Amino acid sequence: MPDTSVRIGSLVLKNPVLAASGTFGFGGDYARLYDVSRLGGIVSKAITLRPRAGNPPPRLWETPCGLLNSIGLENPGLEAFLAEELPRMRELGTAVIVNVWGEDPEEYGELVSRLSLPGVDAIELNLSCPNVRGKGLVGENPEATARVVAVCRRATDKDLWVKFPPQGEVLQAARAAQQAGATAISAANTYRGLAIELETGRPVFANAIGGLSGPAIKPLSLRLVYELSQVVSLPVIGSGGIVSWQDAVEFIMAGAHAVQVGTGNFIDPLCAPKLVRGLRKFLVQRGLGSWELIRGCAHRGGISGAA
Ligand code: FUM
Repeated sequence: MPDTSVRIGSLVLKNPVLAASGTFGFGGDYARLYDVSRLGGIVSKAITLRPRAGNPPPRLWETPCGLLNSIGLENPGLEAFLAEELPRMRELGTAVIVNVWGEDPEEYGELVSRLSLPGVDAIELNLSCPNVRGKGLVGENPEATARVVAVCRRATDKDLWVKFPPQGEVLQAARAAQQAGATAISAANTYRGLAIELETGRPVFANAIGGLSGPAIKPLSLRLVYELSQVVSLPVIGSGGIVSWQDAVEFIMAGAHAVQVGTGNFIDPLCAPKLVRGLRKFLVQRGLGSWELIRGCAHRGGISGAA
């Protein structure tokens, strides 16, 4: 049997398939559909210090092969998350990664400090939300990224994954995150996008700009993971339009240690467990004992021995 597990910092995931933040809630709804312990892990919806109601509707807009969202970080806030959602997440039998968003570095620090609890396997710093005016895209800037990561590194011993936007000085920011003590790079969040209502001539979202995800962005995210995995020595976790096990293999070949399924969960709620199955079968059929031989092989001229 192949070893499907992957190590990210201090955490060993049973397989490289994670549910992406904001597309899986806290796992409970999907647990009614299938055994979510089959996944490598679940990344929670972004948690903020105080509850947030999110943006006014509409919040979702379909595009060809994609989905624009303008959720606005709706979440119950840290207190309610700790009291109600985290205990339930811990029961799901897979790794629990908590995604957090703060107004400033100190708020990120407080969040990670208060989340330094047993049963929180890693914390993902969301430096990449396109839906909060002027404050969401910290990860586009290397200095701002370093400030947040440094504060958080001082505030917790937990593994810190840093989730980047796909635009801006991301390669430099990822290097800055590594120097400031990040454990892994998560790439990437959605692309800033726009849709306009023909009848009114107004942007469909109250905030105008939303975040584009889904298969439309896959080649762009894959390129970013390919580049990031060459400039940092940390594990890279890929996301952006992954809907099939073949997509996931491409991300691993580009250098990813693990992948996150986001919009794929909306297209097919069973998308993530299908990836887990497909990836295991891929290893078996190729006679591979683990991910080592193919991870990043696109940088090395492909799979050694392949025609
Ligand atoms: O608007 C939102 O809640 C999206 C968050 C994100 O993209 O990180």
